[in-house]
Parts: sequence; structure tokens; C-alpha cells
Amino acid sequence: MRTPLIAGNWKMHKTVADTVKYVKELRLLVRDVTGVDIVIAPPFTALHAAAEASRNSHIGIAAQDLHWEREGAFTGEISAPMIVEAGAAYVIIGHSERRTLFGETDPSVNRKLAAAFGAGLTPIVCIGETLDQRERGDTFGVLDRQITQGLDGITSEQVVQLVIAYEPVWAIGTGRNATAAQAEDAHGHIRKRLQNWFGADGAERCRVIYGGSVKPENIGELAGQPDVDGALVGGASLDVKGFVEIVSRSRGAAV
Ligand code: 13P
Repeated sequence: MRTPLIAGNWKMHKTVADTVKYVKELRLLVRDVTGVDIVIAPPFTALHAAAEASRNSHIGIAAQDLHWEREGAFTGEISAPMIVEAGAAYVIIGHSERRTLFGETDPSVNRKLAAAFGAGLTPIVCIGETLDQRERGDTFGVLDRQITQGLDGITSEQVVQLVIAYEPVWAIGTGRNATAAQAEDAHGHIRKRLQNWFGADGAERCRVIYGGSVKPENIGELAGQPDVDGALVGGASLDVKGFVEIVSRSRGAAV
């Protein structure tokens, strides 16, 4: 049985002060919520403050990216051990914005994944097709390529720790979410591939969450699908009450 995961990806939003205020409110609002893992991903500058403000709560903290080296001459980059020291337990890897705007590739996703596992972080690896790729009938081909290259070399023990976020690019920030049937179709395919490559146990235990215009109104139906194990929420996670609404409407949550 997979515990659902709801993660808020704040992208480039919120200062340290905003973060502390949000986390204080969030921890009160989710105090009695069980049956769902709750994660927020603030910008790097607010990671430590978020970790401090969430101490002794069941809120997990994620970084939004990492560099694969431990240290070195990589101006502007942040390594896995630095993220761990800041107090985060998760890291998002290969978000479509990183891929499209900052040249992230499947091989770089793969190196980052190894670094995350090496430091004991739980990776949330994002995959998903563009509208053009979907319309060409290439959705599964794209997902297969991103999985094969991105997850190359990881073991069936590691896949159990991994979170995959299926985020169709056309659904991100557009207000147009995948329908529950489209999401289940993709998630079912991803799980089948995981089964081929990592065996039944790994595929059964790896969480595959959905991202792309998730909001309180659609989370119930999306997370109600058998292969949808929660959500990676962008815009709707910025408002703490809306995010809590999403958490409590997700499958498995008990308030
Ligand atoms: P939106 O929820 O704003 O569509 O963003 C999704 C996303 O990119 C989460 O990583």
C-alpha cells in the first residue's frame, strides 16, 4: 500500500519571512491529518528556515533542484550535501521548467538522481510530454525515453524510495489539467515500465504522483485513480489554505 504524497513546488516564489509564516500556519492546519505525506519545496534561500519552522512536525522539505557534484567550481549551483545540511529530505529533479528553460537533459537528470540517492535524499523525478508530442501520439515514447535514460543504473532497492512526478508539460500553469482518465493512462503505463525494469515489488512500491494545474476542485478525482499516488502542486500550493484543502481531499488523508 503506497502512502499518498502531496508536494507543493513553490518555484521562484516566497521570501524567508513568507516561508516561515506559511509553515507555521501549515503545521497547525495539518496537525491532525494522517495517511498522507506532505512536502513543500521552497526556493534554496528559504530551505533552512522552512526546515527549522517545520521541526518536529510531519511536513517534509524539498529542494527544487541540485547539482550532481559534492563541491567545486560551479558558480550558482547547490549540492546534495548542502541540501541535506539545510534540513531538506527530498529533492525535485528534472522539472520541465529546468528542462525547457535551463537545458536539463535525461543524462543530467540521471547524474542528479545518483547524487540525491548518494546523499540520502528522496528524489522526485519529473517526466512528461509536451502538447506537440501528445498530439503526435508519442506520449508513451517520451515517457519511456525519460524513464530509461533518467533512471539508468538505479537499483530495485532504490526505486522503492523514488517518487516519479508525471507532469504533462501542456498542463503546467495552464489551468488545463489532465483528465483523471488521461492521468491514469500515463501512470499505468509508467508503472508497467517500472515493472519490466525493476520487478513487481519495486513497481508496486514506487510512488507516481501527478502534476499540472492541480487544485482543490480536481484533486479528489485525480488522486482517486488507482495509479495516482498524490500530486506535485505548483500555483495552488502558494496559498496555504488551498494547499491544505488539496492535502485533505487527497486519497488516504484522514483529518
Ligand atoms: P501548476 O500546478 O502551477 O500547474 O504547476 C505544476 C508544476 O509544475 C509542479 O511542479
